[in-house]
Amino acid sequence: MSQANNYDVCVVGSGPGGYVCAIKCAQLGLKTVIVEKEKMGGVCLNVGCIPSKAMISAAQFLHRAQHDASDMGIEIQGDIVVNLPKLKKWKDSVCDRMSMGVNQLLKGNKVDIIIGEADFFSEQEVEVKSSKGKEKIKAKNIVIATGSRPIEIPGFKIDEKSVLSSTGALDLEQLPKKMITIGGGYIGLEISTYLCKLGVEVEVLEAGPAMLSGVVDKDCVKVIERKLKKLGVKVHLNAFAKSVSKKGKSTEVVAEIKGKKETLIADKVLLTVGRKANSDQMNFKKAKVNIDSNGFIAIDKQCRTSNNKIFAIGDIAGQPMLAHKASHEGVLVAEVIHGANRVYDVKGVPAVIFTDPEIASMGMTEEECKQAGYEKLKVGKFPFAANGKAVSLMETDGFIKIIADHKTNVILGVHIVGPEASNLISEAALAVEMGATLEDLALTIHPHPTLGEAMMEAAEATLGHAIHMINRPIR
Ligand code: NAI
Repeated sequence: MSQANNYDVCVVGSGPGGYVCAIKCAQLGLKTVIVEKEKMGGVCLNVGCIPSKAMISAAQFLHRAQHDASDMGIEIQGDIVVNLPKLKKWKDSVCDRMSMGVNQLLKGNKVDIIIGEADFFSEQEVEVKSSKGKEKIKAKNIVIATGSRPIEIPGFKIDEKSVLSSTGALDLEQLPKKMITIGGGYIGLEISTYLCKLGVEVEVLEAGPAMLSGVVDKDCVKVIERKLKKLGVKVHLNAFAKSVSKKGKSTEVVAEIKGKKETLIADKVLLTVGRKANSDQMNFKKAKVNIDSNGFIAIDKQCRTSNNKIFAIGDIAGQPMLAHKASHEGVLVAEVIHGANRVYDVKGVPAVIFTDPEIASMGMTEEECKQAGYEKLKVGKFPFAANGKAVSLMETDGFIKIIADHKTNVILGVHIVGPEASNLISEAALAVEMGATLEDLALTIHPHPTLGEAMMEAAEATLGHAIHMINRPIR
């Protein structure tokens, strides 16, 4: 075993939490090392957000060519063929490019990189096992950014052959004829939508009474329900998947659908029933790092764990399990280690689901506003069908909904379902974070013709005087 190397900061895990933290630490002049057991960029960049976005964009391209192009006068002669090996190669090239970029950024900022698996050896040391053997790293501060992994449910074991996790689904060698997706949440719906567009028959089993339940505005979910139906995705609600078995080349799923036992057959099953923190790894006990009752590392407002010199960020440190929350915490921790008196203090974390159309939200839903004590609200909506850019894109499904305090007009929540919701939500994030009012949004000149105008008009609609729609009385 080699001698311990001394650092100011050792970051474990190179996802959007870890790599951002390491770069910021180095920028602040701290001697920093990052340890990663797989590829740079973590789940998000290699087997999560980025490859799924690549597959979604390719499937959308195909779908629009097949369904919208001829309406626009673009006649495609003959069949459009999906070359899956080529698509997979392109998707991999997108991930590799991003992963190499992270590597270069770390090196360019003089962060030392170690490829290997880290475990706590003591409160200030990690031991890294790699192909070169074992090495100890000593650091004044250690940042844990080791993320989460998919969960399994009783009766289902992910083998990435018949029962796939998102990782397996994103890396298929061949398209199955039929896929059963278990879980109508973020991942299940994103993957089901693009698989369906690529020609796979998809059936979704969701245990709850609604898809995306509890996390998304109910009106937004209705738009997705309609679109999934149009695409041909069959969704069963109140459908508990119970077990899976192999029957020859097929895979059989037994489920209780609305209280009745049913058997469904498919080529493959996709299990997307949530993720859990990787808090059972790395010997946290040895470092006196406590885990909370939900399995996350317990942290304070500075992302400090029960051990003063150890920090935790990203999925392992609590909900929401979103890449951009992890990056925000990564910068925060670097600044705290450098001596800043900074805390995690945000009004919300924007969330995006890359369904068709996309859903994006910032701040509270109506139910959450009520729970938070806002008795009277102003709620308004502006439909994309009344926005010129959306009409010219032929993407008119959906709306922007704004919820504001009735008395002060302060914006409490914005919920978008529609084209480019993922990009439009950033303006709402700024508005909610700054405590902006409806008038702030309505009186800001938005360029024409853009989807962004819908945000201004949604604010006007919430005030009761949008131009491009017939206004309803404010409720
Ligand atoms: P999820 O928590 O979003 O959804 C899981 C669903 O599975 C729930 O609706 C649940 O009712 C259902 N379920 C559980 N047991 C079941 C059973 N036996 N039969 C049928 N349905 C069952 O989990 P998901 O989709 O795996 O995503 C995990 C997390 O990853 C998300 O919460 C999110 O934080 C993150 N993520 C974020 C993305 C984004 O920002 N675009 C994309 C993908 C993931």
